[in-house]
Amino acid sequence: MFAGRQANSRHVMTSKALPWTRRLIKFSERNPKGLPSTTVPGTSVSSTVADPPGPTGLSAIILCLSRQRDPLRELGELARKYGDIVHMQLGSRHDYLVNHPDHIKKILCAPQSEMARSTPPGLKRLLGSGLLTSQGDYHRRHKRLLAPAFHRELVRQWGSTIVTECERLRDCWQDRTELDVEYEMLRLTLAIVLKVFLRVDLKERTDEIATAANTLIQMIHCRTLPVIDDLLDKVALGRIRRFKHARDRFDTIVYRMIRERRASSSPEHDLLSALLQVQDEETGSSALTDQEIRDEVVTMLIAGHETTAHALTWTWFLLSQHPQVELKLHAELDSVLNGRLPVVDDLESLPYNRMVFSEAMRLYPPVWIVARRNPNAWSLGNYTFPPGSFIFLSQYLIQRDPRFFPDPDRFDPERWAPNAVTQRPRYSYFPFGGGPRQCLGEGLAWIIGLLVLASIGQRFQFSLVPRQQIALEPLITLRPKYGMRMIANRRFHSAG
Ligand code: HEM
Repeated sequence: MFAGRQANSRHVMTSKALPWTRRLIKFSERNPKGLPSTTVPGTSVSSTVADPPGPTGLSAIILCLSRQRDPLRELGELARKYGDIVHMQLGSRHDYLVNHPDHIKKILCAPQSEMARSTPPGLKRLLGSGLLTSQGDYHRRHKRLLAPAFHRELVRQWGSTIVTECERLRDCWQDRTELDVEYEMLRLTLAIVLKVFLRVDLKERTDEIATAANTLIQMIHCRTLPVIDDLLDKVALGRIRRFKHARDRFDTIVYRMIRERRASSSPEHDLLSALLQVQDEETGSSALTDQEIRDEVVTMLIAGHETTAHALTWTWFLLSQHPQVELKLHAELDSVLNGRLPVVDDLESLPYNRMVFSEAMRLYPPVWIVARRNPNAWSLGNYTFPPGSFIFLSQYLIQRDPRFFPDPDRFDPERWAPNAVTQRPRYSYFPFGGGPRQCLGEGLAWIIGLLVLASIGQRFQFSLVPRQQIALEPLITLRPKYGMRMIANRRFHSAG
């Protein structure tokens, strides 16, 4: 079904070519892996370089535009029609969609000098030079400096904080309360990351930051076509004003926290303290400026709460649609926990809990696409990508590929039984990415996700409100387009 189709030919003109084709000439001359050139220097005879198959001409333009409307469907159709490596060219821009675990591994695990992360422009404007948006030596240095703050043991210590926040939230809910579960999960995970990163525990601040963060995220639409994104930004002045206002509010809060912490005499064991204490090896002074700390803190808050909240929202939705799975999960929670709140050490005894969360992130990966750019010509299989190409890898696509997940749209946590997992290629599932840009918070995300599922799932069961429309909205994360209104039903059978 996803087998590759016929390759296109890239026609390369010689010296009299139009400006945008000149780049290709240079590329083909430097490209030892392209088809042998038959070009005679100084003439306008054309030669051919093999390109992967993909839409051409008008159909490429139409596809680019429709990708803005319904990217998930369009990506699926591209892969079905053209195979594992799809090429699309619009002017001088080359886009590739790559959809095979072996290729995905090669791209994700390539050194950063060969494959750089490409991020939407809006994200850079919000996050500055945090880990998500920075590149090269700067990124490597910061990732090394931040890694100790995410050490496994430290993350485990955050377990009780996470469960306390869950308990606080579930105590606010009455039996049969109608809730927007997406909103509740966003607030919960924000409260958790604020607590574990900054030791902030003021309800009004959580609300203030949640509102600012939400406004910002809604505005950074994950457009895969920067040309259109830039254009829209130029004309949509109102949108820019709202974005700047929300970002300024967000910054005011974070800088205030940095100032307060620098002035405080009692160091905390959290991310902010770790960042403030990082010293320059030569001078012994603080290695990170306030601006650098702000960028990393905002990156962690955005990357950490949005993603985890949506993974949980989709998990509650899937459970509400699959009563047998839900029953099995409840049985596990009740027998292992017997009504008490979970601790991190319980997670090993709750394998089904983990299988459910894994399967939910397969069907609804919070990060549904990642993009890379190759500074130099780069070869994959028989093809060579010109420098500066955009290469897209989609978790949503590969994780629903029937070659690796039979009956792919079915929610089936049994796919995550240990012997089933070992039969699949590693990169048929990559919700947390891989290689040098692998998610820094993966360990923390699992602990938050599993503890929230266990501590809320032991007390409440959710059902969709009648006529709730469910549709996907692929922004920076994969969101439910119309929210997720659900009824929270108290589980009286549970001992909890
Ligand atoms: C379910 C939750 C999460 C998911 C699905 C997720 C997913 C991802 C993915 C796919 C990437 C790599 C993007 C790429 O390759 O271009 C990434 C990077 C990152 N994530 Fe997460 N993430 C989650 C939670 C978290 C949490 C809790 C944190 C908190 C610190 C975090 C911090 C980061 C950072 C800092 C990066 C950038 C790493 C780098 O570029 O070196 N994430 N995440």
